[in-house]
Amino acid sequence: MARSIPVTLFVVIAAQLVGCSEAGSGATSASQAKVPGRWYTSTQVATGEVVFQGHCAECHGDQAQGLAADWRQKLDDGSFPPPPLNGTAHAWHHPLSLLMQVVNEGGIPFGGKMPAFAEVLTDDEKLSAIAYFQNFWDDGIYGNWEQMGGTN
Ligand code: HEC
Repeated sequence: MARSIPVTLFVVIAAQLVGCSEAGSGATSASQAKVPGRWYTSTQVATGEVVFQGHCAECHGDQAQGLAADWRQKLDDGSFPPPPLNGTAHAWHHPLSLLMQVVNEGGIPFGGKMPAFAEVLTDDEKLSAIAYFQNFWDDGIYGNWEQMGGTN
């Protein structure tokens, strides 16, 4: 009798695991599944990497790490260098709607230097580029971003 307990437990756990994986994948394929805990899919991150390398990396760095020695230090013309977008600066202060607005309008209307991408990229491409740099954020920074508005 004592031996039947672990066997029963094993069956229960195995059944739960199967249930879980079914619930997790659902009807979507792996590439359309969300990155765990995030709003975006791994496909968006992959697309975003291409967009980012083509349109953003020259200023923000290929890993969104920033290129300036000190992004807080104003340049001689009074504008700021491109900040890192990898979670070490303050991009996480801005909800998704505002990040999209920055990418659409750029910084020139506010005395900055970032070009506008409204007419250059599709919305899918812009969202993917954002997903790409957000994928460098650890769960703590991502959680803070959700508190600051996140996708709302
Ligand atoms: C020519 C350089 C340049 C390019 C190219 C560029 N940016 Fe920027 N970006 C900047 C600068 C400079 C700022 C700071 C605000 C300003 O001066 O306009 C900035 C600010 C930002 C911010 C706000 C960050 C914050 O912490 O508030 C985001 C988000 C951003 N860029 C995303 C992108 C994305 C995505 C792309 C590619 C689609 C891109 N940028 C391409 C120069 C650039």
